[in-house]
Formats: sequence, structure tokens, C-alpha cells
Amino acid sequence: MAQNHKPTGHEKIETSNFLMIVLILLAVAVGGLVEIVPLFFQRSTTQPVPGLKPYTPLQLAGRDVYIREGCYNCHSQMVRPFRAEALRYGAHSVAGEFVYDHPFQWGSKRTGPDLHRVGGKYSDEWHRAHLINPRDLVPESNMPAYPWLLTGAVDAAGMPGRMKALQRVGVPYTETEIAAATELVKGKTEMEALIAYLQVLGTARR
Ligand code: HEC
Repeated sequence: MAQNHKPTGHEKIETSNFLMIVLILLAVAVGGLVEIVPLFFQRSTTQPVPGLKPYTPLQLAGRDVYIREGCYNCHSQMVRPFRAEALRYGAHSVAGEFVYDHPFQWGSKRTGPDLHRVGGKYSDEWHRAHLINPRDLVPESNMPAYPWLLTGAVDAAGMPGRMKALQRVGVPYTETEIAAATELVKGKTEMEALIAYLQVLGTARR
């Protein structure tokens, strides 16, 4: 390189760690925003699909059990738009099916099968037996057993508070529904709640 060579703009950037880092961060940030921001405004990602209903208090209690027990560590809830997935699970998932899920349970870890279209696939009795001991129904299963859900009681008194929190982030619960929630789930077991939740999964669209 000649001694009086003046670095061009590009050389200046590529020979300065600082400039390089700052400009990469800027490029990634702008690129990210361009992809992400429109999603907050598109109807297809913000509006519920026709027929989607907010979870009933019992289903909602079941969803809380699902999260507490870490079912999402082995199960995703998002059928990808590929032929093999459609053949195995049913119609692929769309964003409008999850607008009442806070937080959503999409996930990417599939030790077990995807559960988004599991609603209606089995009877309540099947789920009950499976959750008490998966190996009674699927001998090779490595899914843990959850027998304590049979005796665990749903936190009935806590339901109105949970529904209010969801209402605040946009789930259209009415005051009447919130007021009635405690009575609706009183005396129910966590098993009943979890099964009610599993049975509604993915049923708004097939
Ligand atoms: C350690 C991983 C693991 C965890 C944690 C786990 N599962 Fe599973 N699950 C599996 C595997 C593997 C299968 C497939 C074999 C079987 O059916 O038992 C499965 C199957 C299922 C099925 C049947 C799906 C179908 O379409 O046949 C349901 C429903 C289910 N799990 C629900 C749950 C729920 C609810 C929880 C939490 C309470 C849970 N699982 C926790 C691994 C797991």
C-alpha cells in the first residue's frame, strides 16, 4: 500500500472494530424492525380467527397447570406449514389462533408430538389414563406420569384475578364472566382442568 494512500470509506469501516460493530448492530436492528413491526399491525396476526373463543375458567386453570408442569419442555403447539406436519397433525397453525394466549406455547422442542391439534383427538378418559401413567397406553413412552393432578384442586379463588390480568392485555372477558369464574371451577381437580384445556386446543380451525 502506498504510504500516502488515503483509506476509502469502506476500508475505514473494515479496519475499525468500533465502526464495524456499531454499523452491524444498526443494520441488524433496522432489518429486524422492518420484519417485526408490521406484525403488530397486520389483521392476520392480531385478529382472532373466526370461532376462536377465550378460554373458559376451567380451560384457563388447565393451561396454568400445563405451564406449571412444564409440558412445553417436550411439546410444541405449532403445526408447521409442511406436508408431513399436515398429514401427521392436521391443518397448520396460524397466528390468529393464538391471540388469546398470553404467553403462547408455540415452542420448538418436540420430545413428544405437537399438541396444537390434539383437541378432540382422544376421549377425556384416554387423557386421564395417559396422564396418570403414559406407559399404560403407549408402552414405549418416556413421558412422565402426573398422578397428583387427580387430587390437586384448582385454585378457584385465584381465577378472577387471572382473568382480569388477561383482560388487561386484550382478552375480551366480561365482568360477569370474571365474577362467575370462582363458582364455575370450585371443586374441580387439576386433572379435569388440564383435560378441558387439551380438548379445546386447535379446535377453532382445522
Ligand atoms: C419428558 C418429555 C415430556 C413431558 C414433560 C410431557 N410429555 Fe407428553 N408426551 C411425550 C412423549 C414422548 C409422547 C409420545 C408418547 C405418548 O403418547 O406417551 C407424549 C404424548 C403426549 C400426548 C399424546 C399426543 C398425541 O397426539 O398422541 C399428550 C396429550 C401429552 N403428551 C400431553 C402432555 C401434557 C399435558 C404434559 C404436561 C402435564 C406432558 N405431555 C408432558 C413427552 C413428554
